Amino acid sequence: MNTSRFSTVGIVGTGAMGRGIAQIAAQAGSTVLLYDTQPDAIEKARQALGIQWDKLVEKGRLTPEAAAAQKDRLKPAGTLADLAECDLVVEAIVERLDVKKTLFAELEGIVKPSAVLATNTSSLSVTAIAASLKRPEQFAGFHFFNPVPLMKVVEVISGLKTSAETCTALSEYARQMGHTPVQAGDTPGFIVNHAGRGYGTEALRIVSEGVADFATIDRILKDQVGFKLGPFELFDLTALDVSHPVMESIYRQYYDEPRYRPSVITAQRLAGGVVGKKVGEGFYAYVNGVAQVAAEPPVPQVSDLPPVWVSTRAARRAELLQLLKDLGAKIETGQSPSPEALTIVAPLGFDITTVAVVERLDPARTVGIDMLIDDKATKRRVLATNPATRTDMRDAAHALFARDGKPVSVIRDSGGFVTQRVVGTIVNIASDMCQQRVCSPQDLETAVTLGLGYPLGPLAMGDTFGPANVLEVLFNMQTVYGDTRYRPSPWLRRRGAIGLSLKHEEA
Ligand code: NAI
Repeated sequence: MNTSRFSTVGIVGTGAMGRGIAQIAAQAGSTVLLYDTQPDAIEKARQALGIQWDKLVEKGRLTPEAAAAQKDRLKPAGTLADLAECDLVVEAIVERLDVKKTLFAELEGIVKPSAVLATNTSSLSVTAIAASLKRPEQFAGFHFFNPVPLMKVVEVISGLKTSAETCTALSEYARQMGHTPVQAGDTPGFIVNHAGRGYGTEALRIVSEGVADFATIDRILKDQVGFKLGPFELFDLTALDVSHPVMESIYRQYYDEPRYRPSVITAQRLAGGVVGKKVGEGFYAYVNGVAQVAAEPPVPQVSDLPPVWVSTRAARRAELLQLLKDLGAKIETGQSPSPEALTIVAPLGFDITTVAVVERLDPARTVGIDMLIDDKATKRRVLATNPATRTDMRDAAHALFARDGKPVSVIRDSGGFVTQRVVGTIVNIASDMCQQRVCSPQDLETAVTLGLGYPLGPLAMGDTFGPANVLEVLFNMQTVYGDTRYRPSPWLRRRGAIGLSLKHEEA
C-alpha cells in the first residue's frame, strides 16, 4: 500500500513523457489515473506499459504479482473531472503556454484543496503557467527527462510563489519513484538544459571558424575529456528540430546573452531538413542506422625528426618535457631554439600565432600542443599549427607525438584549441549558474552527470583540470576574440584560486 502524500496521482497527456511518469508512479505504489484528449492515447499508454512490465517479468526483474498489481493501479480517466481524488496531477501535454494555463485553471477547480499540481514543461516559465491560479503555492515544475524510467533525475522547479512544502513533497515523491530530485529556480532551461549550452554551441563555433571539422571535434572531446558522445553525435541523436529551437529559446530568454549564442550552421541544416539520425542524415550520414565516419588522416612518415625546443612558458612544462623524453625526442635545453629546432608551445587560451610572436619564436617552426589536461589522463593529443607553420615541421610534430601509438589530431590555430574552449565554456556557464543561484553547486553537479551523462560535473571538471588554468583559458580567449562570451563569471573568478566544488556555499 502507498502511504506517501501522493497515493493517487493523475497524469494529463499520456504521450512519451506522460507514460514514462505514469510508469514510475505506478511502480512507486501510487494509483495512477491517466487522462488524454486523444481518444486512443490512454489505452495505447496502458498497453505499452503492460508490455514493458511483461518484459521485466520475462527477464526475472519483476515478479508476475508485482506486474499485475502495477497494471491494476493504472486507471483510465474518461474526463478531467475524474481526477478529483488525485493528491498530485502531473501535466505532460503539448508545450504551449495558453493550453497549459487553461488546463490548470480547470484542474484547480476539480481537485481537492490540498492537491499539488505540477508541469513537466521543459521550456516554459513555471511562474507564467501559474500566474492566474488561485493556489500558486501548490504548483511547481516537475521536469523529467526522456526516457523517464532510465533518466534518473528530475528537476523540481519553484515558481515565484511555489511553497517550500510543495517542493519538499515533490522531492520526496521523486525519491520514492527511484529518481534523484534537484531543486531549480524558475529560470530559462532550468538546470540541465541551461548547463548543456556550453558543449554544442562552442563546438559549433569551432567548426564555423574552420579550426577543425565536426568528426575531429567529436574524437577530441571523447578521447581527451571522456564524453560518451561527441557534440555532433549528440546533435544527430537529439535531432536539430529539437535542439536548435532550444538553443534559440534560451539565448533569447536571457536577452541575447553571448554565452548562449546559437549558430547559423544548425539554423541552415534545420532549414535544409538535415536534422540527424532519424532522417538518415545529419552531421554524419547514416547507413542502416550506423554513422559513416571518415578515417582519420594517417600519421606522416618522417625519417629524420628534428630536435625539439619547448617554450619556457608552456603549460604543464615538466609533464611535456617528460613526455617528449619518453617519446625519444632530442630535446634542446638552450635559452632559445637552434635554427633546426621544432618549437613547441603549450598556451592556455592564447593562439599559437600570438604566442610565437610574443615569445619571439620563428612561427614557421612553431607548433602548439593542448596541455590543459595531463597527457597521462587523455587518450588523444591535439596539436595546432599557425598560418606560417611549415609542412615539414607540422608533419614532424605529428609523427613525434604519435610515436607511442596514441592518436594525434592536428587542428588549425585558434585561441584555446578544442578541449580548452569547450571545457572552459562548460565550466564558465556552470559557474555563472551558481552565481545566479539557479541551483546549489551540488544539485548542478548531480543534474549534469545524471541528465547529460557528462563524465564529471562541470565544477568537478574545472577542479580536475585546474581552476586557475580554466580561468586563464577564459581570460586569454576573451583577449583573443574581444568577445564577452568568454568573460569569466564572477563566481569562477572568486573560486578560481580555491577550487570550484567546495561543499559549502558562501554565507
Ligand atoms: P507527446 O506529443 O508525446 O504527448 C503529448 C500528449 O498530450 C499527447 O498524447 C496528446 O494527445 C496529449 N494532449 C495534448 N493536449 C492535451 C490537452 N489539452 N489535454 C490532455 N491531453 C493533451 O509529447 P511529450 O514529448 O510527451 O511532451 C509532453 C510535455 O513534456 C511537453 O511539455 C514537453 O515539452 C515536455 N517534455 C518533453 C520531453 C521529451 O523529450 N519529449 C522531455 C521533457 C519534457
